[in-house]
Amino acid sequence: MAEEDIVVAMTGASGALYGLRLVEVLLQAGKHIHFTLSPAAVEVIAAECGRKVDPDKFNPAKFFGQFWTPILSSRFAYHNYRDFKSGIASGSFLTGGMVICPCSMGTLGAIAAGISDNLITRAANVQLKERRKLILVPRETPLHLIHLRNMTVCTEAGAVILPAMPGFYHKPTTMNELVDFIVARVCDQLGVDHHLQKRWGEKEADQS
Ligand SMILES: Cc1cc2nc3c(=O)[nH]c(=O)nc-3n(C[C@H](O)[C@H](O)[C@H](O)COP(=O)(O)O)c2cc1C
Repeated sequence: MAEEDIVVAMTGASGALYGLRLVEVLLQAGKHIHFTLSPAAVEVIAAECGRKVDPDKFNPAKFFGQFWTPILSSRFAYHNYRDFKSGIASGSFLTGGMVICPCSMGTLGAIAAGISDNLITRAANVQLKERRKLILVPRETPLHLIHLRNMTVCTEAGAVILPAMPGFYHKPTTMNELVDFIVARVCDQLGVDHHLQKRWGEKEADQS
């Protein structure tokens, strides 16, 4: 069932809603989620979503709110950011890929430098060394040369850089549609079926 196991990490870049929605969509698609978040992500989630998180006593029902059902618990595992004994810190733990969403420039830089000083950077390193899918969703603007170089290095090492840059050609009218634009792109990269939005060139009637 390794292909069903997806690692999702949230770091301290703006765009917490992308990560929350991604977990929701992947769980609804039947995936098993291994979830972790950085201390900076805790700050951003509080600032952007008004949700208080205690990373040492993580409560998924409280964190994910409305969409959480007890049945999802069997497909969700939380890993503390400091827990290097976690399965996802090892290449022998098979996964179908990892997404860091949102991905701070700090975490992206650490991955580019091969630093594994927390569970997120370690798990990302593992994905790269095992030649598995690693999707990074950075959000920063403007970008300086070091950001650009770090993104190039990560790409050269096999990661997919999928910036949180929603398009506007589908005429979004809500923030949720903008979030789903990015989550849909991540799902496409993971090969996860979804109906989050109409695809370009798809007729209205094709939508289900
Ligand atoms: C409200 C808030 C918004 C932030 N937005 C961003 C951002 O969009 N991109 C970014 O790279 N860092 C952003 N930061 C800074 C990171 O959180 C900071 O660099 C942190 O050290 C990243 O740590 P992490 O990679 O371990 O999560 C933000 C911080 C706060 C508090």
